[in-house]
Amino acid sequence: MSVLPVTPLFPRLAEALATTEIEAKITLTTAIAADWQAGRLDWQDETAVELACGRPAKPELVDHRNVPQRNPRSPDGRARLLHAIVHIEFTAINLALDHAARFHGMPKAYYADWIGVAAEEAEHFTLLRQRLQSLGHDYGDFPAHGSLWEMAEKTADDPLARMALVPRLLEARGLDATPPIQRRLEEAGDHESARALDIILRDEIGHVGLGDRWFRTLCEQRQLEPESTYRELLDRFKAPRPQAPMNESARLQAGFSANELAALAKKR
Ligand SMILES: [Fe+2]
Ligand SMILES: [Fe+2]
Repeated sequence: MSVLPVTPLFPRLAEALATTEIEAKITLTTAIAADWQAGRLDWQDETAVELACGRPAKPELVDHRNVPQRNPRSPDGRARLLHAIVHIEFTAINLALDHAARFHGMPKAYYADWIGVAAEEAEHFTLLRQRLQSLGHDYGDFPAHGSLWEMAEKTADDPLARMALVPRLLEARGLDATPPIQRRLEEAGDHESARALDIILRDEIGHVGLGDRWFRTLCEQRQLEPESTYRELLDRFKAPRPQAPMNESARLQAGFSANELAALAKKR
């Protein structure tokens, strides 16, 4: 039996993150997940690796206020809506790779978790891209907004802030946004896209749950009370609080407490 050598994890993550090619990013990400599962990646070799985030030249990134409203009743509006979600999933691959690549010295489980999430985001991207292609469009056809990655940059020097503001804030917002989008897709007769979002919603509860777990772990290490620390971080990063109606059942499953949801809902 041949035993494949163990190689350092971080250069592999950096390579997948940096690639600007869509197919290459998917292939490299999936290969990292498989090699990790097989025990072939060493997370303890912390040799510094330069990190850069790669994405294709298209879509053009615009300020989110300049992305027009999408009404899924028209085919064009539905394509724009799906494109926006495809873009979120593409960015989510980069985000999960970056969570794992950027923060050294974390426990093994941290890397396992975010490598697994990166692979799931690649699946989400592929699934929704197929829906978009079924409408005669592809990723890159419409402008998209860049605010998700901006939050990665703002939290690049602290895993506690990263866990709070990316999975526990932005991905949790996705939990709130998904059921209304599914209803609009159903109303427009696109049941297949609505069902694709069922899978995504289920997985995303898991992603927010991991963000919640690592956020709480890091708070405990620093002797911080997590729920008030979270609200302080939202203020410090000028991040808007979650807007009603929140997807309470999904958020509770992901680790938010009922008390915390009530505190977040309160107008300041
Ligand atoms: Fe996703
Ligand atoms: Fe996610």
